[in-house]
Amino acid sequence: MSKRIAIIGGGNLGSAIAEGLLKSKFNKASEIIVTKRNTATLQSLKEKGIEITDNNSEAVRKSNVIILAVKPFQVAEVLNGIKNDLDTDKIFISVVTGVLISDMQEIIQQTLPLFRAMPNTAIAIQQSMTCVCSSNAAQENIKYVNELFKNLGEVVTIDEKLMEAATVLGACGIAYALRFIRANIQGGIEIGFDAKTASIIAAQTIKGSAELLIQTGNHPEQEIDKVTTPKGCTIAGLNEMEHRGFSSSLIRGVVVSYKKIAKD
Ligand SMILES: NC(=O)c1ccc[n+]([C@@H]2O[C@H](COP(=O)([O-])OP(=O)(O)OC[C@H]3O[C@@H](n4cnc5c(N)ncnc54)[C@H](OP(=O)(O)O)[C@@H]3O)[C@@H](O)[C@H]2O)c1
Repeated sequence: MSKRIAIIGGGNLGSAIAEGLLKSKFNKASEIIVTKRNTATLQSLKEKGIEITDNNSEAVRKSNVIILAVKPFQVAEVLNGIKNDLDTDKIFISVVTGVLISDMQEIIQQTLPLFRAMPNTAIAIQQSMTCVCSSNAAQENIKYVNELFKNLGEVVTIDEKLMEAATVLGACGIAYALRFIRANIQGGIEIGFDAKTASIIAAQTIKGSAELLIQTGNHPEQEIDKVTTPKGCTIAGLNEMEHRGFSSSLIRGVVVSYKKIAKD
């Protein structure tokens, strides 16, 4: 039988995780509990058979796995409220940005398997990139957590010191990629497409590019070389983008995001 999962904080991310677990059949609806203070917004999960409640303690007591998905400033209050309901047989996973395992450990005061996971919003369609780190976790716990997030997309295990970098590249990365797609759409409209057609072409082309790298394992430049005919239009456009600072502005943006998150 699967482990029973409590998602504490059924907001954007918490609800998306619940939906993803259900769609992937990793858990049955009866094996998922989602909590939040105002449960009225969880009606659609309830209709799918997921238990919803505003009682965090009860949800934790009834579950084998706890996923904490509240805002960073809410963590201390929530953990203080549930720490006496936790025990060392439970697996604890926080998807909260910027709260260290040691910070949570200090409040919980128990050495249970503690994980931090950094997914992105594509988790709603089971296409997340999730970076995971852990403390006090046995191999079987690590295997379980990897499998859980594998059902919601791709998983990479990292050191906790890279969690902020993972937030930038993986979670903020969704916004960077979407802005790139939007710019392509605007360019597409200027050269003759209507917005809808330009959106389909731009999005599918980006999806295809990503799949080329994922499926072949090739470096992007190898795939670029296949498209750039000597004296052709692709290299002319690409070089113009580079003269205007394309790669440089992207790299600088990633670093500025990182500095902001590492400082705050
Ligand atoms: N969105 C992303 O792309 C992303 C990616 C990776 C990680 N994260 C992290 O995931 C966390 C959640 O983000 P989000 O975008 O899902 O935020 P959100 O929509 O605000 O969700 C947080 C939820 O926590 C609930 N909550 C607050 N206090 C609670 C309590 N005492 N007991 C139970 N539930 C409580 C809130 O509902 P009530 O007010 O009704 O209680 C709210 O629905 C954040 O820490 C964020 O850093 C987000």
